[in-house]
Amino acid sequence: MAETPNLDLIHPLKLFDIAKNEERFLYTSAPMVRYSKLAFRQTVYAYNTDLCWTPMVLAKEFNRNHFARDSDFTISTNSPQPPTIVQFGANSPQELARASTLVIPFSNGVDLNCGCPQSWACSETLGAALMEKRELVRDMVVETRDHLRRDGWGVGKEKDINNPKGRSVSVKIRVHKDLRRTIDFINTVLGPDQDRHIDWLTIHPRTRSTPSSTPINLEALELLTSTFGDRVPILLSGDVFALNALPFTSPLLAPAPTLTQTLSATTNSSSSTTPSKNPPLPAAYHIPKLAGLMSARALLCNPALYAGHDACPWAAVETFLSNAARAPLPYKLVLHHLSEMCGPGMGPNKAALLNKQVRTGLMACGNMFDLIDFLDGLRELRRDGREQGVVGI
Ligand SMILES: Cc1cc2nc3c(=O)[nH]c(=O)nc-3n(C[C@H](O)[C@H](O)[C@H](O)COP(=O)(O)O)c2cc1C
Repeated sequence: MAETPNLDLIHPLKLFDIAKNEERFLYTSAPMVRYSKLAFRQTVYAYNTDLCWTPMVLAKEFNRNHFARDSDFTISTNSPQPPTIVQFGANSPQELARASTLVIPFSNGVDLNCGCPQSWACSETLGAALMEKRELVRDMVVETRDHLRRDGWGVGKEKDINNPKGRSVSVKIRVHKDLRRTIDFINTVLGPDQDRHIDWLTIHPRTRSTPSSTPINLEALELLTSTFGDRVPILLSGDVFALNALPFTSPLLAPAPTLTQTLSATTNSSSSTTPSKNPPLPAAYHIPKLAGLMSARALLCNPALYAGHDACPWAAVETFLSNAARAPLPYKLVLHHLSEMCGPGMGPNKAALLNKQVRTGLMACGNMFDLIDFLDGLRELRRDGREQGVVGI
């Protein structure tokens, strides 16, 4: 982290307002350890993502170690800086507050991870273990807000929406098997309606032990948004795979397909230019009090998801590569991003940008120079009209 630049940062709640006025969901990109780094955030931002999360940063290490600060948090001071929420892993009010004061000049807000299910995190009372510690979570967000306020930041939520020093404090949670416990948790963390402790809440409707291959718990989402959606803006994290195939309806979405439309999509899928092997099912759930969407795995495969692309366009790969050149990533990470973007996505459209053979060639590139040569070769093939298995370039 360098000297404090003069950053004019928009209050995230203003972004919620803008999306609401446009009668759409707020589009956000999830915290992803290793992956949601600057180059990726800039890429999704170029494709309609409103608000981006950093990967989880461990507050204690961040406070104590300047190498951790340099490697865990990078922003751009001279090219588009996506509105950014820094997510922390923390289990102490002082550590979270201190780490928050360090990043807040450079970020639009801070967030606490109460969802990471990994055993190393839970054994240190980080991540999902915090779902059993609702008073501690409340104390962490209250202390953070107080500390930021004392430092002169505007943490009055809607009151500070137009304040250039306005910043947010939010929490990302999973749910309990017994949803009454999640309701207790949220009530405690939310605090009084007239001065709630958090700006918004992100809900990943899976329990700590639900695998990510199991669909999200829509019943939980419906219950929690109908209970709390008027008191605090709520984001959904989980299974946001394609804007036209969400498993619920909302006034902020185009109407869900009827059964007849679904069946006719199945019958006609072979003539579609973007084949849809699994057309969306009619949604059984209506979630009118949801404010926004957060996507992780689907955005990794298709950073242009929120721009209405149901599969990754080649231009997104080019955008990512030029961002990665300016905000470098370890080479293996670049390769991983490319393999995700060039393979089949998470949504119903399973068309891959590059076929398996070409992707294998891509993955065999040993360094950035080989990779650039390989991609130049693909572009030439395309220009010569000789490409095989290369879609979209
Ligand atoms: C590679 C990867 C890294 C993740 N890292 C974090 C993290 O740092 N903090 C967090 O709260 N969640 C993290 N998650 C969980 C996601 O933010 C998200 O809640 C979850 O993947 C469900 O969303 P999805 O169905 O869109 O993938 C991670 C998920 C993935 C796949």
